[in-house]
Amino acid sequence: MTQHRIAVIPGDGIGREVVPAGLEALEATASRFGLGLEFDTFDFASAEYWQRHGTMLPSDWEETLRGYDAIYFGAVGWPEVVPDHVSLWGSLLQFRRTFDQYVNLRPCRLLPGVRGPLAGREPGDIDFIVVRENTEGEYSSIGGRIFEGTERETVLQETVMTRVGVDRVLRFAYEQAARRPKNHLTSATKSNGISITMPYWDERVAAMQGQFPGVRVDKFHIDALVANFVLHPDWFDVVVASNLFGDILSDLGPACTGTLGLAPSANINPERDHPSLFEPVHGSAPDIAGRGIANPVGQIWCGSMMLDHLGHPEAAAHLLGAIEDVLAYGPTEAPLTPDLQGKGTTAELGQAIADRVRTRD
Ligand code: NAI
Ligand code: MG
Repeated sequence: MTQHRIAVIPGDGIGREVVPAGLEALEATASRFGLGLEFDTFDFASAEYWQRHGTMLPSDWEETLRGYDAIYFGAVGWPEVVPDHVSLWGSLLQFRRTFDQYVNLRPCRLLPGVRGPLAGREPGDIDFIVVRENTEGEYSSIGGRIFEGTERETVLQETVMTRVGVDRVLRFAYEQAARRPKNHLTSATKSNGISITMPYWDERVAAMQGQFPGVRVDKFHIDALVANFVLHPDWFDVVVASNLFGDILSDLGPACTGTLGLAPSANINPERDHPSLFEPVHGSAPDIAGRGIANPVGQIWCGSMMLDHLGHPEAAAHLLGAIEDVLAYGPTEAPLTPDLQGKGTTAELGQAIADRVRTRD
């Protein structure tokens, strides 16, 4: 039996409510497919830990987490207790950097039974993934202020694209496109306006194309691309983008397919030198925390992404299929949460999905 060790970090607020539902679904999937998943839960990266210790993480967090195959993360942030920049920079962003999780991956898929915001779209019409560069690009610390407070006051911040950094995220995106049925890669650019870095990005996209002869490649300027996400979401399969463009697309994409509670994401180190991290897109939702009504689907879907990353695509597809089945039953037949017009609780919806994992073909 393949054994995988998973570090579980529920974090704050609804993270602590949706993670147990996610684990239940993962356990059901593991037993169905004969996978050995071992979970160790940690209390750090939370406001409670910060209150007790004055830091978000123990000093040996890196050694502790390094031995795991993946990190299954809820959400961090409780602004009443810890300022958001402290909780985020003190935990999640440390994981992403230290473990060189240079790919941020977000599936955008319209699920059955979900009323998306785009009129006339059916499940199957929207099914693409956004691959965002997660470590360099526009989000660099190179720059500064000079002549502050004078008429010559000047600020500069440089975009940094390294060949290593660009090529490795492009390679990941090409590989994703090569394994998906449509074999289609779209690159986000702006080489008409940003005349140095973006033409370089385009050049690297073109340079790699020869290695993936089965993949059809196109590119759009970012302004046209965001319009087409809304107007023609069916045009896309794998969309790859620099850090800033990817940040925007990876929020817009899932927003085109339904509520925040459904959206999963992954921060991936494709070489597997370090653990990758799987977390829902949403935060800790203090406004509904403690009421047991948070939608666990985003967290459960993260479990499917994690299984895929760990090398179990069939188990991953089975779990996603169980989510789709239960959503398709609708709010009268299934205990869907209030954000899906239902009356179910987090635990009930989690349980229904885990049950479906056990019973579906
Ligand atoms: P949020 O995502 O926590 O909540 C935004 C809105 O969506 C709220 O009205 C919430 O009730 C609703 N919502 C979110 N997830 C839901 C779910 N699963 N089911 C039903 N409704 C859901 O974003 P917000 O309020 O801006 O941030 C709250 C805290 O979370 C802050 O401390 C923030 O820093 C943190 N945060 C953490 C993230 C992470 O851990 N990666 C990501 C985003 C925010
Ligand atoms: Mg964002």
